[in-house]
Amino acid sequence: MDRPVPYESEINALLARMTLEEKLGQLQQLAWTGDTGPGEGQARLIESAAREGRLGSVLNLHGARRTNDLQRIAVEESRLGIPLVFGLDVIHGFWTTFPISLAQAASFDPDIARLDAEVSAREARSNGVHWAFSPMMDVTREPRWGRVSESSGEDPYLTAAFAAAKVRGYEGEGGGPIASDRMAACAKHFVAYGAVEGGREYNTVDVSESRLRALHLPPFRAAVDAGVATVMAAFNTLSGIPAHANAHALTDILKRDWDFDGVVVSDWAGVAELIPHGFAADPADAARLALNAGIDMEMVSTCIADRGEELLANGHISAERLDDAVARILRLKFRLGLFEHPYTDERAEISAPSAETRRSAREAAARSMVLLKNDSRSVSRDRLLPLSPDITSIAVVGPFADSTDLHGAWAGPGADAFPAVTVTEGIRLAVPGAKIGYAKGVESEGGGEATPGIAEAVAAAEASDVTVIVVGEPAGLSGEGGSRSDIGLPGEQGELIEAIARTGRPFVVVLTCGRPLALGPWLASAPAVLVAWHPGLEAGHAIADVLFGAVNPGGKLPASFPRTTGQVPIHYNHENTGRPCGPDHQDPRYGARYLDLDHGPEFPFGHGLSYTTFAFGEPTLTTFTLSAGELLDGATVEVSVTVRNTGDRDGDEVVQLYVHDPVASLVQPVRRLRGFQRVSLAAGQSTTVRFTLGAEDIGFWTNAPEGEFVIEQGDIHVYVANSSQAEVPMRTLTIK
Ligand code: BGC
Repeated sequence: MDRPVPYESEINALLARMTLEEKLGQLQQLAWTGDTGPGEGQARLIESAAREGRLGSVLNLHGARRTNDLQRIAVEESRLGIPLVFGLDVIHGFWTTFPISLAQAASFDPDIARLDAEVSAREARSNGVHWAFSPMMDVTREPRWGRVSESSGEDPYLTAAFAAAKVRGYEGEGGGPIASDRMAACAKHFVAYGAVEGGREYNTVDVSESRLRALHLPPFRAAVDAGVATVMAAFNTLSGIPAHANAHALTDILKRDWDFDGVVVSDWAGVAELIPHGFAADPADAARLALNAGIDMEMVSTCIADRGEELLANGHISAERLDDAVARILRLKFRLGLFEHPYTDERAEISAPSAETRRSAREAAARSMVLLKNDSRSVSRDRLLPLSPDITSIAVVGPFADSTDLHGAWAGPGADAFPAVTVTEGIRLAVPGAKIGYAKGVESEGGGEATPGIAEAVAAAEASDVTVIVVGEPAGLSGEGGSRSDIGLPGEQGELIEAIARTGRPFVVVLTCGRPLALGPWLASAPAVLVAWHPGLEAGHAIADVLFGAVNPGGKLPASFPRTTGQVPIHYNHENTGRPCGPDHQDPRYGARYLDLDHGPEFPFGHGLSYTTFAFGEPTLTTFTLSAGELLDGATVEVSVTVRNTGDRDGDEVVQLYVHDPVASLVQPVRRLRGFQRVSLAAGQSTTVRFTLGAEDIGFWTNAPEGEFVIEQGDIHVYVANSSQAEVPMRTLTIK
């Protein structure tokens, strides 16, 4: 309990020398440019604030020389010489753009996130950036929400695994000092931002305590356990209380129950926005509410710095809370080694992706792709994919076929400096002997001369052995502020696919997207569909790797693909109603479904095909009965299953462990992912995959406001499968 407080004596020595103005100054973060939020950049305020000791941090500035110039003012010209900490949205790459976070989650391989973060940290830190506003870990069932692209999808267990891996990648192991080629991470957005009503950006969130704890908190807990240095508050309200003023979330849960000793930073102007939320009367009120709830640093707006003195004088905030906030910020700077080494070595600045980081990004992108569909050709039993490298002619069509808009949302400075490899370029290199035809067909968002464009694409398809249609969403339609009310393919892209289908010639659809899409009627006619997401810098190469079989796809959906937008939210881990749908509940009228749609998603969470096939044995458990007490004392059950590659190609399978509590005092999800492992198996090879189930996997959180975790007596159903909806044999574990 009484663990030593890191850097306590250094922090106390500094606090003792600081004036009130200097303390309030540490709590202020200003934005060099205004690119990532409303309003303008604050560059003109920054130099003097740094000189006067009225600034703790700057965001949206990078470059070793530029950050050093500013740092020199803080360190050499301010009274106490406290260094600034520079933060930036390094979300899925700095120079080397990795696939978007949603894609990374589809790899079901958290090492991808760790590698992205390591590469990002090296590049960004050498450019003077100490702090990444990442990983985003908002669990979301809302594909309409643009920020689903930054997330790990709809499952808390998967998201938690990626959150922890990414924190370790940025910061290194252990939660202690952060090395000079690493950076501080930021777990965001605390909390439940993924539940914005209607998927509408910044919208209201109302969640029960049990759902908060089961769905939204676990990734943050995993990040805190991995040593995350900072946490960012969310823009949404949480059951009526804005997250920026939510003492229950920020102080009771995060700082008290989880013992988090890092910095809670506001989101962009999130403190001042307590006023339009209808929660604070004026800037002083906003400052009081935010600081008292647990915000330590204010991004962009200046309520705390401007009004702190009067609030302290009136007793509306306490000196202890203020000192605690300052101590947390100083601790971050100590962890980063900024007092000893405030400057970045300008000669060691990395200015471009290397061959090695490009290779990593390419592998990550290929490992993230999900093969949704791959039908047999009518004449033979061969599947359409992989395409033969001996192919002699190929048409590459669609608005993303020759586009560099493949980095995805929040791509960092690399997106402007280094164009993504296009699909045509990737294919050209993969099959240098083939004749490549190209036609854009239609514009990505509609408009333009659709019909002649489609005719050109059809002509290209008719002149080729096979057509690759590359369709999807521009990056600008996802990310922050990227909510869509219709998540179909934008514009006339569906018509383009249907026109190619009418040629009767073989074709593959490659989707480049930042969210799960409602695919539309063309799906039935498409023999093969590959989700490439927004694959990042090496997009075209990675797509070609998968299309021609150099990489056998092994990704799985981290979020369900709905049949239509109207079916949203639809997610695998839903609760049953009293009138569920499914094989045992056949009444077509009185079920929890839509009249005009088949039941269930188009493609469920966990779905993804391979160029080979796998067979699962029946799972075995080391014990079939356990008591709740034993579980709470740390007892575990091992679940093992044999998996065999039954095809004639090497490939990867993601083995997924799900549990279900069929009778509980709080209705439980029909499936909960509690383990996954991506295994690589040579043709014919088999392996045994083992999972461990413990208390956390079997119990659940009640609605008690202070958080109550219970394990009830009764049966727990255990499934091991290759998708959340696979029909597989069930094992029963009985809790006595
Ligand atoms: C976003 C954050 C981001 C911040 C700084 C906000 O608008 O919500 O995720 O880190 O801007 O750019």
